[in-house]
Amino acid sequence: MQFSQSTPRLRLSQEHSQKQVVSIGDKALEALNVQNKGCECNQPCQPSKERNDYIAHLFCKAFWQTLPLPCPYSYTNTSAIMDPQIVLGIDIGASGIKSALVDVHKGTLISKRMRLPTPQPATPKAVTKVIVELMSQLKYEGEVVGCGFPAIIKNGVAWSAANISKKWIGQDVEALFSEATGKRFSVINDADAAGIAEMRFGKGMGHKGTVILITIGSGLGSALFTDGHLVRNTELGHFYLKGVLAEQYASNNARKRDKLSWAAWAVRFSEYLSHLDRLFSPDLVILGGGGSKKWDQFHDHLKTKLNVVPATLGNEAGIIGAAWRARPEIWRASVAPPSGQ
Ligand code: BGC
Repeated sequence: MQFSQSTPRLRLSQEHSQKQVVSIGDKALEALNVQNKGCECNQPCQPSKERNDYIAHLFCKAFWQTLPLPCPYSYTNTSAIMDPQIVLGIDIGASGIKSALVDVHKGTLISKRMRLPTPQPATPKAVTKVIVELMSQLKYEGEVVGCGFPAIIKNGVAWSAANISKKWIGQDVEALFSEATGKRFSVINDADAAGIAEMRFGKGMGHKGTVILITIGSGLGSALFTDGHLVRNTELGHFYLKGVLAEQYASNNARKRDKLSWAAWAVRFSEYLSHLDRLFSPDLVILGGGGSKKWDQFHDHLKTKLNVVPATLGNEAGIIGAAWRARPEIWRASVAPPSGQ
């Protein structure tokens, strides 16, 4: 049943206080937002029957307690819409492995963020041990874990290893973690994960055109979106700048190595931005990763005509994006969990 002017809403509202109706309306709007975040296109979704039924049911439910009438709306699917969907997100970085439980409808952490140091050297064996340890502390009951990994990831397999042990190259990361923990893993590039979260819940929400997210950390990670669609594994920290890989010149590690203040580093990063501009003409550049927390210290020193903003979700974006990518409605339809390709 579609929601329309002739539904009981108007009739019932006469018997109930305005305040009550307004608060129910707010809930309906919230539901609407939830639905609009429900697919991967990042565009406003068309009203669906399920959504209309759900909104109508919210109104009906509010009066259910006072009027002994059966709810006239079908809402069999609404529990999936209403319940928070909790997925464990893990963000593996060169220096830390962060994790938290995420409400993938809201894009928020619902548990404390845990951080364990990335073992050095970060070999498959050593990192897997940390993942197992982390899972034992979290007591996660869900079936799939979303995980961001600092390498090119195709079909769950690592194709590169710039800031981690070279032993990862060719390793099926999804299979390795799944076997060790007994949970299914959905693994994607860490910057792609952060980008997904920012596009869905942060600064990129609703943005068309070309959006690039750059994570500033041990390396420079990138996520490139065109009209909301992700072009995976772009590795925009790996083009050459001043004769070296850009991330060796303009990452936070490079800043620390060369003992630069954030202001001095901003001059280098501006050069990096001008290369991005020359190659991609981005409409929006979002800065994420640990370095984005220092925005106040460097943004006045950036010299760029690009529209550059700090990430809304900061360093949590990687956890949220990885979890969102592993949400149940995505993988339940297929036997295999979603993978990075
Ligand atoms: C890696 C990328 C990664 C980035 C941030 C780079 O060194 O090559 O895959 O996204 O670091 O961790």
